[in-house]
Amino acid sequence: MVWGAGEWSGTGFVVLVLLQSCLAYKLVCYYTSWSQYREGDGSCFPDAIDPFLCTHVIYSFANISNNEIDTWEWNDVTLYNTLNVLKSRNPNLKTLLSVGGWNFGSQRFSRIASNTESLKTFIKSVPTFLRTHGFDGLDLAWLFPGWRDKQHFTTLVKEMKAEFAREAQGGREQLLLSAAVSAGKVAIDAGYDIAQISQHLDFINLLTYDFHGAWRQTVGHPSPLFRGQKDPRSDRFNNADYAVSYVLRLGAPADKLVMGIPTFGRTFTLASSKTDVGAPISGPGAPGQFTKEEGMFAYYEICEFLHGATVQRLLDQQVPYATKGNQWVGYDDQESVKNKAKYLKSRKLAGAMVWALDLDDFQGTFCGQNLHFPLTSAIKDALATA
Ligand SMILES: *[C@@H]1O[C@H](CO)[C@@H](O)[C@H](O)[C@H]1NC(C)=O
Repeated sequence: MVWGAGEWSGTGFVVLVLLQSCLAYKLVCYYTSWSQYREGDGSCFPDAIDPFLCTHVIYSFANISNNEIDTWEWNDVTLYNTLNVLKSRNPNLKTLLSVGGWNFGSQRFSRIASNTESLKTFIKSVPTFLRTHGFDGLDLAWLFPGWRDKQHFTTLVKEMKAEFAREAQGGREQLLLSAAVSAGKVAIDAGYDIAQISQHLDFINLLTYDFHGAWRQTVGHPSPLFRGQKDPRSDRFNNADYAVSYVLRLGAPADKLVMGIPTFGRTFTLASSKTDVGAPISGPGAPGQFTKEEGMFAYYEICEFLHGATVQRLLDQQVPYATKGNQWVGYDDQESVKNKAKYLKSRKLAGAMVWALDLDDFQGTFCGQNLHFPLTSAIKDALATA
């Protein structure tokens, strides 16, 4: 290990402790600004974040307006500050701003990236905006580039990195650049030149979840680690292990690849008394009390759901699911996230990514143990142990 050398020296203990505190693995955690609007105990502001939990916190999302990076929420500037003051408590913490997202849409990125002038304007606008608000880097959340965008996405990444290098010539620490990349094989093949973008990105956040949801006709786990023995052939790519292996094979260096782990589950309404993977559904599950979105539960909502529910583990896919009445939820718990962390260490990846801090039990009041961020903490612990 990294710290092996100092282990037996006179000051071995001190060296060990010091080096352990600068975690060898990245723990990249997204925070979503709209979580502030959830009611009651679901409402999450960046001051709820433990500054020592993650190595990187990514604030989602920023907008692009007149081809320049811009705020999304009316109070973003205040929240940026709330987040970035965490660094006064932990100076090693890095923060990034994520631009784009689902509501932003792929087409707007497409228009900007395909036009030399607007691309230049966008890229030029980024460093000043990040520095003004105290961020250490940018995360590109173009969800997702299509086949017509593949070359443009590569150019965007390459030019952004070049701009960051130029900007750092003044002697400042260079801004970081990451991207959220789909883990779906079809989307990867269409939109990404993995080998090229890997050269210019500091790390890649692989979205290894949402492999299955209520858009399908049957029940299935959203974030299995491995392929299920009974999975149909068409599902053979729909697991984290395949996605990781595939992206590595396409030329992403392992030490830049960060594997996504969800702190949310996908929910389904069962159409019959069958509850196994592959059982028919009539649609998404009922909305959670706080997240109020059909087909998903935050982990803290899952903890509530588990009272009186039946929990099963998919031994081949190494993830749990729970059923109650006609509701089915596939999710991750402390055991499965630790196992995923162990897996990514065995693959020598750069670390884990969490979507999202505000969906974990950030209050520590829902899931017992009085533990804040039980899933993210479990990942942190698993990454820290040899
Ligand atoms: C984002 O920018 C676009 C283009 O200027 C604008 O139309 C839209 O209202 C902005 N979105 C938000 C949430 O501010």
